[in-house]
Amino acid sequence: MPRVVYVNGQYVPYTQAHIHVEDRGFQFADGVYEVIGCVHGHMADETGHLDRLERSLSELQMDMPVSRETLRFLMRECLRRNGLANAGIYIQITRGQAKRDFKFPAGTSQSLVIIVSPFDFDGNLGVANGVRVKTLEDIRWKRRDVKSVALLPQVLAKQDAIDSGVDDAWMVDGDGYVTEGSASNAWIITKDGTLVTRPVSYDILRGVTRTAIEKICRENDLQLEERLFTPKEAYEANEAFTSSATALITPVIEIDGHKIGDGKPGKMAHRLYEEYRAYVDGLRGKQVHWESGL
Ligand code: PDD
Repeated sequence: MPRVVYVNGQYVPYTQAHIHVEDRGFQFADGVYEVIGCVHGHMADETGHLDRLERSLSELQMDMPVSRETLRFLMRECLRRNGLANAGIYIQITRGQAKRDFKFPAGTSQSLVIIVSPFDFDGNLGVANGVRVKTLEDIRWKRRDVKSVALLPQVLAKQDAIDSGVDDAWMVDGDGYVTEGSASNAWIITKDGTLVTRPVSYDILRGVTRTAIEKICRENDLQLEERLFTPKEAYEANEAFTSSATALITPVIEIDGHKIGDGKPGKMAHRLYEEYRAYVDGLRGKQVHWESGL
């Protein structure tokens, strides 16, 4: 649990932090968010996450409530005040507080919340042991490229998975193709070692971690195909994994009761994880940009 969080211009004790009852994030999910990993004091792809934050906002006709420089400072200050070097940094921006009305309100100031929570990247059991997933219907809206706080379908998917005795859900579109995980991008590795993930479109959130993996593939001559795949193809894959800012690269060892490969975390996923950690260590202030591709 964090000690101090940032809420609309103030650092406040976690237990006293609050947002107004008429905040549009609360009433309409009228807001966006980002999650950035701070791994051993290194911000993982901060620039890419801020690029995506700005794009999500602009798709909803919102501006950044503060400058990028200020946001970068606020995140570091939150880390410092909480004494954290390993954390998940959660940034939420909403259209702000206004009398309940569907249309955009005039003259409100946006809400900005930053919560940094301790995160043990090195001790992540999912990464070490792999996770089991089930597939289920993707019931989300048609703009999944926007990192909106409207996460109810993902909440229901995750809970469905937990109630079924597995760890997570992979969602499947109306044509029977995997879209992504409840809070991650979904990948398989075919028998010939090709990484496969869904092409960028409005159907998925283009992960910042995914973008880093694309770069790692290019630099290591790893074959990457962006194409649709079905759960059945995933059952028969050599390996599978998910990618996200907090889970990094997490092997998937079972899908819908089918063991993937030998049912243990795969070698390629492990290698990618190591490459990704080295990539984050090597960033040190480098500006690696993220693009929506849309
Ligand atoms: N989720 N797809 C969805 C639906 C996600 O929610 C996420 C991340 C990703 C991966 O994006 P990235 O690699 O940039 O983290 C893909 C975050 C971690 C969350 O909601 O907590």
